[in-house]
Amino acid sequence: SKLKQLIQQLPKAELHLHIEGTLEPELMWRLAQKHNITLPFASVEAIQDAYQFNNLQSFLDLYYQGADVLRDEDDFFELMWAYLGKCHEQNIVHTEIMFDPQTHTQRGITYDVFMPGFARAIDKAKTELGVSVYLILSFLRHLSEDNAIETLQQAQPYYSMITAVGLDSAELHNPPSKFQGVFAQAALLGFKLVAHAGEEGPPEYVWEAINLLKVDRVDHGVRSIEDPKLMAYLKQHQVPLTVCPLSNLKLCVIDDMREHNIVELLNDGLRVMVNSDDPSYFGGYLNENFYALVDKLDLTEEDTVALISNSISASFLPDNDKQEWL
Ligand code: ADE
Ligand code: ZN
Repeated sequence: SKLKQLIQQLPKAELHLHIEGTLEPELMWRLAQKHNITLPFASVEAIQDAYQFNNLQSFLDLYYQGADVLRDEDDFFELMWAYLGKCHEQNIVHTEIMFDPQTHTQRGITYDVFMPGFARAIDKAKTELGVSVYLILSFLRHLSEDNAIETLQQAQPYYSMITAVGLDSAELHNPPSKFQGVFAQAALLGFKLVAHAGEEGPPEYVWEAINLLKVDRVDHGVRSIEDPKLMAYLKQHQVPLTVCPLSNLKLCVIDDMREHNIVELLNDGLRVMVNSDDPSYFGGYLNENFYALVDKLDLTEEDTVALISNSISASFLPDNDKQEWL
């Protein structure tokens, strides 16, 4: 359709994307063979067929298991390079990518393995594809705050590659308040701050992310709609919510895409935009997330343009660079 063509053609930013969530079954299979790892799957198709989730945890279990095939610097290069190629294909001109250091350091893969792999792909993408890339170091919230503090310290040689810190993994029972100390440290170091909140967790967790962690953006935040005071705050302060439609559907945050509240949030004056979260696991990259909204929510051209312009304005790009795309 004309609207889908517009979505494909407009320059976009992606602000909520986990690099480990871009690991396609084909690459997982190939890396398992390369490193002589026995996967609990008989074929590439069997991997794909296993991607049926009933909540966040059932996804996280497969996502951490999948990441185990990432062993050497070339693996991390390949992973990053494949996603940045997708960005080029989909006219994503700027992307702010989360990576989970603890997923790798816990298995004995150190920063000096994955960071140089990422750096090589990012440099190549800048020069060959013209894609702009920022990195967000994301802490796993099911682990302790002390472990997060150690993870931030270990990143020190790579601080110049990192724009922000984030918070992801199992939300329920791991509230933002658990990570106040490490977020305060990160703020002092000059990092921007984001946190997943209000995906499976209650609006109270969104308040904590704002008031205790002092985040610049909230990842997901779709459950904010349950709290009218929070909605008023998010509107007044234009706190960005990085919404991920296909993710919410696949993780059963909603039962049907027709129930998704992104258009409601947009029409209520909140600064929301579309993101793919973990595209390999959730069945689509950024444009496919938009297409799902066009098909199921009758997204208008005006909505589309507003969502895309929010993706640029809510990015951490300097104002001058934003102007180029707005
Ligand atoms: N890690 C990767 N994707 C995630 C999500 N949607 N929520 C929490 N942690 C994640
Ligand atoms: Zn996420």
